[in-house]
Amino acid sequence: MKIIVVKDSIEGGREGFKVFKEALDNGAKVFGLATGSTPETTYAQIVDSDLDFSKCTSINLDEYVGLGANDPQSYHYFMNQHLFSKKPFAHSYLPDGLAKNAKKETARYDALIEKNPIDLQLLGIGQNGHIGFNEPGSSFDGKTQKIRLTESTIEANSRFFENEDQVPKYAYSMGIGSIMKAKKILLEAYGPAKAEVIRKMVKGPITEDVPASILQRHQDVVVIADEAAAALLRS
Ligand code: PGA
Repeated sequence: MKIIVVKDSIEGGREGFKVFKEALDNGAKVFGLATGSTPETTYAQIVDSDLDFSKCTSINLDEYVGLGANDPQSYHYFMNQHLFSKKPFAHSYLPDGLAKNAKKETARYDALIEKNPIDLQLLGIGQNGHIGFNEPGSSFDGKTQKIRLTESTIEANSRFFENEDQVPKYAYSMGIGSIMKAKKILLEAYGPAKAEVIRKMVKGPITEDVPASILQRHQDVVVIADEAAAALLRS
């Protein structure tokens, strides 16, 4: 793992942008994208740049079950707002939160991932070590799944909703097996609440209890963390 420690998320966004630019310059065509607070500064840098993704494909990690693309809390909406409306891709895929049949939806998504091998996958990390919405205990070989969110994830994400009851209880998420197949992975983490999990991810045992720990086995991972998130890596 290559670890880049930055002052704050603004500087992290600039470093994240460089990773995207380099991938694009090297011919990357398929970008795995993420939502949440973490990637916002990287997307802002991309939006402000002249990078051209109009011949590229994006595949997002996850979407809440029950939320449609026009729902302001949906990840479709987030992606349109932060990136796609300003930097369009030729094709942008997310799981369909309103799909009637979960089995068909997960199979559809796996087929898309299979057809469009991911060159660069962007990740955030949950305080419980989740990547995408692959909560602790998820299989390292997993494909796209409908996942029940843990209480800690629901609590962490309630800041985007009026109250905790409004946070969906389920999400579709690309599986860890698919994430691990990406050629290159960029994980960003900011703030003191991520320090303990970043330590576990980098230095702890590889265990399904900390889904991100599997990244130790990937041959090309860049971690961008601010000083607060990287604070426990020194010892
Ligand atoms: P955050 O979420 O970027 O909003 O901190 C990250 C995650 O839960 O994967």
